[in-house]
Amino acid sequence: MIITIDGPAGAGKSLAARQLAKNLGFRFLDTGAMYRAVTLAGLRQKINWENTGELAKIAANLSIRLSDARVLLEDEDVTAAIRTFEVTTLTRHAADNLGVRERLVELQRAFAEGKNLVTEGRDQATVVFPKAEVKIYLTASDEVRAQRRYKDLLARGERVTLPEVLKKQMERDRRDLQREIGGLRKAENSIEVCTDRLTADEVVAKLEQLVRAAEK
Ligand code: DC
Repeated sequence: MIITIDGPAGAGKSLAARQLAKNLGFRFLDTGAMYRAVTLAGLRQKINWENTGELAKIAANLSIRLSDARVLLEDEDVTAAIRTFEVTTLTRHAADNLGVRERLVELQRAFAEGKNLVTEGRDQATVVFPKAEVKIYLTASDEVRAQRRYKDLLARGERVTLPEVLKKQMERDRRDLQREIGGLRKAENSIEVCTDRLTADEVVAKLEQLVRAAEK
């Protein structure tokens, strides 16, 4: 069984998807982490970001492994390194790159082979797994999402301000929504859940309820 969770940054996808997978005994796939890992590889190799072929070539030859909680790039644990403000800002180059997208979609489908999976991203229901049994579209208001991201970055020791985070978030939203291939769209048969007034536990409980209902 495949459960997709798509939605904008800061809607609470990662936390909810990870916990949902745990409760159901499913595997978990964080596809944003894959776009981030490709970006980190590009950053380290000091590529020219305007040359899309360079990043696509890196993605084609890169070994990215995701265990449930860690991200390994060529066997190095980059779980924390892919979450910096710099990588977050640069990740648009990977997300906008068709060669990178093709390669990552291929890896995502291969990862799902023969597994029960909760997968989260932007295009999981629309492009990668259009036949998924349960499709969730997770949202939250701009302010709530920015607050969450801000707290998260502060906890990681980054020096950012809330207006700065909100501005970057709006830029990312615009890009995610406008991206022609793999852009953020609500699949026709997905269920929308707004997390503004829900605690993390309540979100997971709600999602679990939706999955159980679909299983019947
Ligand atoms: O979910 P996240 O913030 O870790 O995602 C990082 C970036 O990757 C985000 O700006 C959009 C992009 N992304 C994507 O284009 N497709 C996905 N399936 C997942 C993420």
